[in-house]
Amino acid sequence: MKNLFSLMLMIFAFSLVTSSQGIDNENFVVAHGPYLQRLNETGVTIIWTTNKPAVPGVSLTTPDGNVRFVRNSHDGIIDGGGLVHKVRIDGLEPGKTYKYSISSVQILKYQAYKIYYGDTLNRKSESFITPSMKSEKISFTVFNDVHGNSGKMSSYIKNGNKTGQDFYLFNGDMIDFLQSEDQLFPGFIDSAVTYFAAVKPFYYVRGNHETRGYVAREIKSFFDYQDDRFYYSFDNGPVHFTVLDCGEDKPDNNRYYYGLADYDTYRKEELEWLKNEVKSDAFRNAKHRIVIVHMPIIKGEKQGYGMKFLSDNFGPVLNSAGICLMMSAHTHRNTFYESGKSGFGYPVLVNSNNSFVEVEADLQGIKAVVKDVGGKIINTYTFK
Ligand SMILES: [Fe+2]
Repeated sequence: MKNLFSLMLMIFAFSLVTSSQGIDNENFVVAHGPYLQRLNETGVTIIWTTNKPAVPGVSLTTPDGNVRFVRNSHDGIIDGGGLVHKVRIDGLEPGKTYKYSISSVQILKYQAYKIYYGDTLNRKSESFITPSMKSEKISFTVFNDVHGNSGKMSSYIKNGNKTGQDFYLFNGDMIDFLQSEDQLFPGFIDSAVTYFAAVKPFYYVRGNHETRGYVAREIKSFFDYQDDRFYYSFDNGPVHFTVLDCGEDKPDNNRYYYGLADYDTYRKEELEWLKNEVKSDAFRNAKHRIVIVHMPIIKGEKQGYGMKFLSDNFGPVLNSAGICLMMSAHTHRNTFYESGKSGFGYPVLVNSNNSFVEVEADLQGIKAVVKDVGGKIINTYTFK
């Protein structure tokens, strides 16, 4: 009994010592990622997170075998000190294969005149291929309205073309809302990393649900958007993509926005951008033009406020712009509107919350195959 009492006293004393010294027994690890963003002919952004503050870097092996270690800096200070790491690599060549390995140096103490480093984590190398505008054929997969059901999303990926695609598009409402940073990763990013995102880039298009919750304000920290905007364009092979941000679905004065919504102003700014976008050389000279937007821009009766705003204001700008296909989501129903039947001069393919779309585009046209969770073909559409 006396021995047991002594042992308990020793354990208690040890726990007091360790807690007073702040001993942290959690290993330093990469928590999420890496995943590729904004991969273009000459650059890529690689993002990952660690569970403790770190200085990030990427070791890049070029096609001719040279190794470059890349760290980014802003205003003279090397990026680091946080948990989310974003490294942009420029100066790449189109259509080439590069190997990369992420490196994280733990920061134990960060003071004005004293910085202590801890472990360095070097992850296994991955590879990516830069796109080339000379490519005559591209393929990509569109997911949407998964609403945080990553199990369903994994089923899609397992039963679809999981490695052969050039890139992936998440067309909004991938999560219900963003109240905590932890929702994004189990919600869909971790599954994407498991299957493709370390080697193929994805584009995360904002749906109306991604505007909700406190952390919705921080969403850009976890991704890399062209010009730091949710609406932008990019080119891949024969296709010019115009990505639009639909904003919220209800009027700005809806009581559930508690006076913090300003989407009418925002969409008007976006509309001015769109007017210039459809006049740009990249848009007009492309072989095919695809618009990606979460809420379909169609004419219809009894439309909600957001959809009607887009229909009244964005529809006329896109109407005669030569759009080959608009890919949308939001309604949770598989619907196809032929050009003209959408109310505008372009076809609209709306993907449901229980299917995904595999798209191939070459010089002849575009083929979109809608598949269910089990990989069974629901419908095939071709656009010449
Ligand atoms: Fe939606």
